[in-house]
Amino acid sequence: MSTLQNNFLWGGAVAANQCEGAYCADGKGISSADCITAGTVDKARVYTDGIVAGENYPSHEAIDFYHRYKEDIAMFAEMGFKCFRTSISWSRIFPLGDEAEPNEKGLQFYDDLFDECLKYGIQPVVTISHYETPYGLVQKCGSWRSRKMIDCYLKFCETIFKRYQSKVKYWMTFNEINVIILHPVMAAGIRIGKDENYNQVVYQAAHNMLVASAKAVSLGHSINPDFKIGMMMLYPTFYGETCHPLDQLKCMEAIDCHYLFSDVQVRGEYSRKALSFFRRNGIHLEMATEDALALKDGTVDYIGFSYYNSNVASHQMEKDMTGGNMLNAIKNPYLKASDWGWTVDPVGLRIALNNLYDRYQLPLFIVENGLGAVDKIEADGTIQDDYRIAYLREHIKQMKLAVGEDGVELIGYTPWGCIDLVSAGTGEMKKRYGFIYVDKDNEGKGSLNRKKKASFDWYKKVIASNGEDL
Ligand code: BG6
Repeated sequence: MSTLQNNFLWGGAVAANQCEGAYCADGKGISSADCITAGTVDKARVYTDGIVAGENYPSHEAIDFYHRYKEDIAMFAEMGFKCFRTSISWSRIFPLGDEAEPNEKGLQFYDDLFDECLKYGIQPVVTISHYETPYGLVQKCGSWRSRKMIDCYLKFCETIFKRYQSKVKYWMTFNEINVIILHPVMAAGIRIGKDENYNQVVYQAAHNMLVASAKAVSLGHSINPDFKIGMMMLYPTFYGETCHPLDQLKCMEAIDCHYLFSDVQVRGEYSRKALSFFRRNGIHLEMATEDALALKDGTVDYIGFSYYNSNVASHQMEKDMTGGNMLNAIKNPYLKASDWGWTVDPVGLRIALNNLYDRYQLPLFIVENGLGAVDKIEADGTIQDDYRIAYLREHIKQMKLAVGEDGVELIGYTPWGCIDLVSAGTGEMKKRYGFIYVDKDNEGKGSLNRKKKASFDWYKKVIASNGEDL
């Protein structure tokens, strides 16, 4: 008997703007993600004012999944995927974001994509909004700064819920909703001026997103009561640097601003602590009278989260820093780090699972996890990505301990970038996560041909044994 439930959702995850390309094909409008240039680990990506001639925008072609999805899904099926997490590009469906009618060609693309998955028994798991906003809405109302976004988002949701109701059961309203406070440009295409109050802008945008998310959950359930609609957060396991009480207090505070989001999405209201945080920081949220009811009615069915690395909190200011997913953190002397400086901490995943389950007792879904690394093609044409296998193996072991030893309820695991794609953080192709290699470099050159890495057969074996043969 295996530790994981028989219908455990093994699969992989991507996002539309990081893989589809075809950024203006078949009536698609420009999204905020189409205006973010390529960068590197040392050179930040730039969010330009619209598309500027001569700049390199990696989302424009990405890995051309839009035209090659059949080949890619056949490879996912060969690995035995039970599910495939992707997002729907909002501006493929509503090119400017506020049209009266959706773009039929965009809708047809996702019909075809989901049919192709279902043909192999792969369940689509859909993120409704993964780090992109129609650029038309950025221009018209400043994206999620404005409440006007709520109605546009709900119209998008209604369109896709109705259209795909017989094909998609698992939905997530926003990718890493808590990242709005760390990286508003990436999360929502919001630029914040130097003279603006950063917290005021991001928490107001967050509130608008939380209300939209809750209303989407209620709407989805009214369209199809069998839908499972979840939230999705970046989970940043934090350790206090020492047992100094002030380090532990910092650690608590570091995670509190993330729980602010899950508390609302799971419990249907802001915690007293969150309200006190707003008061202390002079944040005045514009809330409509109906918002409290909407939040209460639209609580989620499950918690999806990403986990890549852990972080360290200290009450002292001067520290040796390292990178991490969306957050830079203090170096942890007990852990190794990836080439991009992200710590590798499998036990941190077990802790994340326990913390979330203890707090909420809702089913959990690990919808992103993985190692971004440089892959080398050997003289014999193979790609021996043992480092990736080692990373995933250790994380799966800890995930199984959380289920088997700690009693956490876990429904699935979808490693990030199951096929190489554009990095969100740096815009690079060189930072690869996939079981499938895509021939393309940081400058955008390459045949786009696909090739299995050693991890491909390893993951196939893991799925076939329901996680027993690691
Ligand atoms: C998550 C995002 O934060 O991390 C993904 O949801 C992203 O979109 C992933 O790609 C990995 O980050 P990066 O910067 O290595 O692409």
